Parts: sequence; C-alpha cells; structure tokens
Amino acid sequence: MRLYINIDHVATVRQARMTDEPDPVRAAVLAELGGADGITIHHRQDARHISKRDVDLLARTVRTGINLEISSNPEMVDLALATRPMQVTLVPEKREEVTTEGGLNLTSESVRRSVSAALERLMDGGTRTSLFIDPDPESVDRTKDLGAHAAELHTGEYANAAGDEDRAEELERLEAAARRADAAGLAVHAGHGLTYENVVPVAALPLVEELNIGHSVVSRSVFVGIERAVREMKEIVMAAPARAHRPGEWVPPIGF
Ligand code: PXP
Repeated sequence: MRLYINIDHVATVRQARMTDEPDPVRAAVLAELGGADGITIHHRQDARHISKRDVDLLARTVRTGINLEISSNPEMVDLALATRPMQVTLVPEKREEVTTEGGLNLTSESVRRSVSAALERLMDGGTRTSLFIDPDPESVDRTKDLGAHAAELHTGEYANAAGDEDRAEELERLEAAARRADAAGLAVHAGHGLTYENVVPVAALPLVEELNIGHSVVSRSVFVGIERAVREMKEIVMAAPARAHRPGEWVPPIGF
C-alpha cells in the first residue's frame, strides 16, 4: 500500500492571501519525512491552488514521486509532458466546483475521445497513467478499454454515506470495482474524502495499492504539523488490514 499525500490545500491557504506562504514545496519535503510514498497535486486549469511554479519546483525537489492530477485538456497534457511526473491521473474538472465532484464520465463519447487523446500522448511520453472513476463496472471496463495503467476509485460516496448500512454498501461497491479492475489487469488506487476516521476499511481492501489523501491530512497539520499528520495517517493505513476485521476496536494514535 502506498500513501500519496495531496498537498493542494497548502496552496489553497497561500492563495487566500495571494502571497508566498505556506509553500507547498516545503510541505512536500515534510510530508516525505513523515512517510508519504508520493506527493499528489492537482493543477487545475484556473490554477486556483497549485500553480505552474509549484509544479516546476516540486518536479525538481520531490524525492519520492509526483502524481499529477489534470484534466484531459491538451494544454494540461503539455504541462505534464514538460514536467515528466511519475504518474498522471486524469480527472474531470468543472470551473464552478469546490472539489472534484465525481469520476470521469466515460459513458460520454466526447469525454472518452478527449481522455483517449490525452492517454496516448502521456503514454508516448512514458508516463504511468491513472483514471479517476466512480466505482462502477462500466467505468472500470471503459478504463481498461482506454488502456490506462490504473483506475483510481472515487471514495466520495463511501465517505459521505449517511449511516453504517449505506457505508457498508458503498464499501461493497468499492470492493467489487477493485476486484473487476484487478481482474482486468489494472492497478487499483482509491481516494477522495478519506479521513483518519473512515480510512481503515478502504485501506484494508486487499487489491487497493495506492491511496490519495489530502484535505483531512492538511486539516490536521494545522494543529500538529504536516510531518506528524502524515506519519499518523501512514500508521493507520499500514495497520488497517489487521484492524479492519475488528471494526469497533480502532484505537486512535497517541495524541490524536
Ligand atoms: N483523488 C483525486 C482524484 C482528487 O481529485 C482528490 C482531491 O483533489 C483526492 C484524491 C484527495 O481528496 P481529499 O482532499 O478529499 O482527500
């Protein structure tokens, strides 16, 4: 299991004042010291948090690997090809949304065309590719058909589930999608809305090999610092397979 830490919201705080602090480049160094296996950044077309400057500097300073989230817009693909991150995750992007609201709508022909063109260019450039999708069979099958290396399963519905029953149902959907993706030869990633409280069952899914977590870790870092916030999340994620079978017994880390 790899834990990738999304540091977008460090840049969100900086952009609240249009100044130069806090710097996501420093955050990435500390996240790596805390045990992050990689750094995830979403460069939106409107550059509302992560900027071109951040992408360039992070590409030169991150020692683990960068997972660059972009839309399939050709200009964003140009940026990715110029930066050469370890992995690109293609995500849907709407200007008015607060955060990525759902997975790629691969039932749409125009979305598929645009994703396919982006994938071709990225793969020609030697980049590992992942598609952010909802955990349903059709999206998994389309991801396979499009030729991406990995599927990142959107965990937002799981995270937002109202009660235990709904949450269990969403977890089952995630597990079934993970199985289908694995059987199709795709690497399985997951992310969105995962927190210290809800991450254990997802981290314990045996076929999931990468988690992308941002908001919860950056939120906690305001109080305990980012290195410690990452270390605590990493401890929870690594211990998850043993804990998941005893749901009532989750013990928060010291100082939580
Ligand atoms: N994965 C993807 C594809 C995302 O777009 C995001 C949010 O930028 C995340 C994971 C992380 O979500 P969160 O900030 O809720 O942990």
